[in-house]
Amino acid sequence: MTVDLVLKNAKILLGQKIERAGIAVDSGYIVKIAKDVNLPAASDKIDVKEFLVLPGLIDVHIHLRDQELSYKEDFVSGTSAAANGGVTTVLDMPNNKPVTMDASSLRERMAAASEKLIVNAGFLSAFPSNVKEIPDIVKEGAKGFKLYMSEKIGGIDPSDDELITKALVETQKLNIPVCIHAEDKQLLEIIYEEKKKNKDATIDAFLHVHSQDAEVKAIERILNLAQKSKAKIHICHVSTSKGVELIEMAKKTELKVTCEVTPHHLLLTYENLKELGIIGLTKPPLRLKDDVRSLWTGLQKGVVDTIASDHAPHSLDEKKKTSFWQIPSGIAGLETMLPLMLTQVNKGLLSLPKLVETTSKRPRDVFGIRERGEIREGHIADLVAVDLKKEWTIDSSKFYSKAKFSPFDGWKVKGKPVKTFINGHLVMDNGEVFTDVKRGRIIR
Ligand code: DOR
Ligand code: ZN
Ligand code: ZN
Repeated sequence: MTVDLVLKNAKILLGQKIERAGIAVDSGYIVKIAKDVNLPAASDKIDVKEFLVLPGLIDVHIHLRDQELSYKEDFVSGTSAAANGGVTTVLDMPNNKPVTMDASSLRERMAAASEKLIVNAGFLSAFPSNVKEIPDIVKEGAKGFKLYMSEKIGGIDPSDDELITKALVETQKLNIPVCIHAEDKQLLEIIYEEKKKNKDATIDAFLHVHSQDAEVKAIERILNLAQKSKAKIHICHVSTSKGVELIEMAKKTELKVTCEVTPHHLLLTYENLKELGIIGLTKPPLRLKDDVRSLWTGLQKGVVDTIASDHAPHSLDEKKKTSFWQIPSGIAGLETMLPLMLTQVNKGLLSLPKLVETTSKRPRDVFGIRERGEIREGHIADLVAVDLKKEWTIDSSKFYSKAKFSPFDGWKVKGKPVKTFINGHLVMDNGEVFTDVKRGRIIR
């Protein structure tokens, strides 16, 4: 038997141990993991030079933009950024222009993306105004729903508990997860009006509006509604100690709740935000040292299921030119997530198995992504080879993302993705992404 590709001279994390082995790939699938001498003949051989090969990352929270927001990011630039960052599957959020919120907008978005994906992508939808349309959206291929509790995006006002419950009941019947941006709209608005009245347009004012209480209240509310509906809830970008605590308690009940943290909430605090200014603006905002500590504890204890980037690109121009309260917030994180987390591995703050669990296995399970997320015979060959010892400096001017700025600019990191394979094909080699052939697929 001659297979398409053999990766030889690799190190692979098998269980908790790193072993020397190679990987044989045929028709996009991993067909054999074995010592190099026991691998089948192959049309193509790649020497991985003793780098560590991990399952490609599954980033369950990113914003690909495109369509009418392609000046911020488009499908090619966003998925190239993913490939450069060792991310092989992304889940796209629905706050697009037009908003992804029904079967036709989802179909259009998928059609627009289909020939432009460098990595695999799944798509989330906002809730439609008529919850009876939810099954159609799922049939169209949505991998989940997203509810912004901070503002109305899609068809449902996030202050309307009754409508939210109805929508959650529909998702429960279909066993599909609902991602939650947990900031309470009413609470945000009360403080925002106060700040505006006092003409207070400062980073401190931003932090007062996007308070810890706003997150905590939203998590409390959604857990309560999830209890009534038995829906699967995934809390995005948890940022507060109390938030982690609430989720930990909920996990001890019959509630189906999972959650994610971002690298920026794990590694930065509001003190960084004050230095960074608009580049560090994100919702929910960077928090206090105590919160950061709780996120790490939650991660180690398994309360936190996944690490996701919340890659939220904007143009620097619009960030600079808009009046304070209109400044778009968000951090472009696809190209820094894995290097930052590998650095934590090198520092001994995160184990390699934990990194793999939270960036590929758990995301795969939470969102029901088939045949990916693990290096295993019979799985699709979405892989990333990393140079765990490489010391280098993050330089956002080299990003594939259109958002060429980052709060991590200039950070010295240790560990770098050096080769990314999508569906059995090499798409990134040493920082160069091959964009001529589009190897990514839409995940339904
Ligand atoms: O900072 C943020 N940026 N938070 C969000 O919830 C949305 C995101 C974006 O789309 O820019
Ligand atoms: Zn969000
Ligand atoms: Zn987001």
